[in-house]
Amino acid sequence: MAGSTSSVRHPKQRKDAALTSANSFAWAFFDSSVGAKIIIALTGLGLVGFSVFHMIGNLKVFQGPDAINGYAYFLTHSLGALIWVARVGLLTIFLLHLTLAIRLTRRSRRARPVPYAYPGSVQATVSSRTMIWSGIVVGLFVLFHLAHFTFAWIHTVEVAPDRFVSYAELQHNGQHDVYSMVVFGLATPWLAVLYIVVQVVLFVHLLHGVQSAFQTLGLKNNRFASAIRLAGFAVATLILVGNLFIVIGVWAGLAPPLYKTV
Ligand code: HEM
Repeated sequence: MAGSTSSVRHPKQRKDAALTSANSFAWAFFDSSVGAKIIIALTGLGLVGFSVFHMIGNLKVFQGPDAINGYAYFLTHSLGALIWVARVGLLTIFLLHLTLAIRLTRRSRRARPVPYAYPGSVQATVSSRTMIWSGIVVGLFVLFHLAHFTFAWIHTVEVAPDRFVSYAELQHNGQHDVYSMVVFGLATPWLAVLYIVVQVVLFVHLLHGVQSAFQTLGLKNNRFASAIRLAGFAVATLILVGNLFIVIGVWAGLAPPLYKTV
């Protein structure tokens, strides 16, 4: 009988033990290289989804001020708390992607301080070898981009002779004038050049990133390898062409400014 009483546990105690082991499993997964790779792959695909969605939204600049301003108003005012859920989610996946990728790269460099004697024998492209650097450049660009368009800290617009206002104050038909913000931002030569260079770096990152994510998730087997390579190339090219079209289209006058350009 003594044996049977010693095996009886308080129900709460059992739950705590189960929770502890679930926590330690989650931590071991997060801390392992395989776990980190899976999280990097999933968050990377999430960021690709955001980039496509964002590009399609920005293309509305060519439909005129009411289209893009109405769209921005819908996202920021009509979705209520959902927009904040989306923003916090986006920030979380962005931070997870960047920090885990940096940690993984540092760990693999520590594990192999001396590079392969014959780098040519390891299947690697410029895109795959520069993933960490292209990722850091895109990450720094996103910080700059938020300062530029979301916080309007970088640049002012002359809305009347000698009257300069920040992007945040631009208004058109009672709504925030995202149209003028994008047109003025991209009609400024140094900003346009920066945006073009970053789109190319993003393309190089995605060229390897998309297929690598599928490979990590076990979807790139012999049967699907070429389809997945093609899909990676198509997604990277779509984002490059769409975003370059926005910058170059503004330069070509496809979205005429509402105010005088300074
Ligand atoms: C030609 C290229 C791009 C244009 C014209 C553009 C335009 C904009 C604009 C106008 C906003 C502010 C929206 C608002 O406050 O209403 C914005 C926000 C943002 N953009 Fe871009 N963008 C471009 C490329 C990118 C790229 C390549 C990324 C990242 C891969 C990116 C990430 C973001 C993020 C994270 C936000 C903040 C979203 C939020 O506050 O909810 N953008 N962009």
